[in-house]
Amino acid sequence: MRIAMIGTGYVGLVSGACFADLGHDVVCVDIDPRKIEKLERGEIPIYEPGLEEIVSRNVTAGRLSFTTEVSEGVPGADAVFIAVGTPPRPDDGHADLRFVHAAAEGVAAAMTGYTVIVDKSTVPVGTAREVSQIVARTRDASEYDVVSNPEFLREGAAIEDFLKPDRVVVGCRTEKAAAIMQGVYKPLTDQGVPLLITDPESAELIKYAANAFLAVKIGFINEIADVCERTGADVRQVAKGIGMDTRIGPKFLMPGPGYGGSCFPKDTLELVATARKSGAPSRIVEAVVESNDNRKRSMADRVADAMGAPVDGARIAVLGLTFKAETDDMRESPAIDIVAALQDKGANVVVHDPKGMEAAKPFIRDVDWAENAYAALDSADAAVIVTEWSEYRMMDLERVKGLLSKPVLVDLRNLFDPADMKDRGFVYSSVGRPA
Ligand code: UGA
Repeated sequence: MRIAMIGTGYVGLVSGACFADLGHDVVCVDIDPRKIEKLERGEIPIYEPGLEEIVSRNVTAGRLSFTTEVSEGVPGADAVFIAVGTPPRPDDGHADLRFVHAAAEGVAAAMTGYTVIVDKSTVPVGTAREVSQIVARTRDASEYDVVSNPEFLREGAAIEDFLKPDRVVVGCRTEKAAAIMQGVYKPLTDQGVPLLITDPESAELIKYAANAFLAVKIGFINEIADVCERTGADVRQVAKGIGMDTRIGPKFLMPGPGYGGSCFPKDTLELVATARKSGAPSRIVEAVVESNDNRKRSMADRVADAMGAPVDGARIAVLGLTFKAETDDMRESPAIDIVAALQDKGANVVVHDPKGMEAAKPFIRDVDWAENAYAALDSADAAVIVTEWSEYRMMDLERVKGLLSKPVLVDLRNLFDPADMKDRGFVYSSVGRPA
């Protein structure tokens, strides 16, 4: 099938490349000529494991191309995906749909023949209807359908999530559009991936409800971890024990410094706003948003607790800046709040991240930037692990101990075994586990 992808950001580029890998002819369109030039040279603007190979393989095979012109990608396409950004508006933080609306206008002007226009960006409930109204200004209803097809990709695991999803959700109103979307996803449904067809509003809400539910799960296990710390229980055992109940499930029960990223913080806020506006506020999601915000900053207190002294004047090494491992994304990363809180308490902070140093510069100031983890640890009075990079897990712990001026390690990702760390002579503090 022929597919156009409008927007080559994270979602658009991953989806476009993966659709090509499934055998479709895909044209990716972006208004930014520098981005398109880079992509044509095979340069990938984001760090995502496996993406570069998949792009280059499909460009070579002639199934994937890039252009700045909607008029090159859209005519003749069976489905046009809108995967442009929806940045938060500066005034109220809600999704700014300007780019979605502009893309809809561009598609309406360029399309030829019946076209399915697919909202792929995460957009508030009612956006498919709005996009449909925009297209209706210049097109007859028989020429198009608007479909909502939310994405459930995790950064760092996006290719696998795209090619082996738990489900595909398609929100549409006509059989004709449903048939085209079934064709688009046939290579996956043939392998047993379930495709759920709903109305567009439900598909839009599924996206927000799924992310909010996952955020609630994380918020919940973080609170249980706090209870564990005060009662002598071990959160790993508690998570395992509750996760064995298939109604709860074992995933997303890892405690840590609080969730970050470009999705959970934004999507929970959007759901809170949608729920309030609808007259049915979501007290649960509101509570999780507040508890997560408080948690991120409060992580800095753990350093002083572990040191048994104020951090004022101390040199603190922060290992890991990105909101999780295997990404260079700094958006809403707990590290931002933790570094700021340490600095407010008078600490001198030295930081390291394997992939996120450049991306971190606009978010983190007045720190020393270390070339590697060991350089960060050199002469530090304590270290905090904020991101679960495997290179930190693999560190030579004897060397770590030798470099630190005091062997204090605050591990917000539970990378090490507390008993082993104690034996090695560390003052080791982790999350939700007995010291
Ligand atoms: C999330 C969802 O998992 C995807 O399904 C969704 O498509 C995506 O948002 C989106 O809306 O685009 P992502 O933000 O890439 O994906 O990352 P996650 O792996 O979900 O992690 C989010 C945050 O939760 C991270 O800060 C992570 O460290 C934290 N987390 C996750 C925990 O603290 N504990 C866990 O058990 C799992």
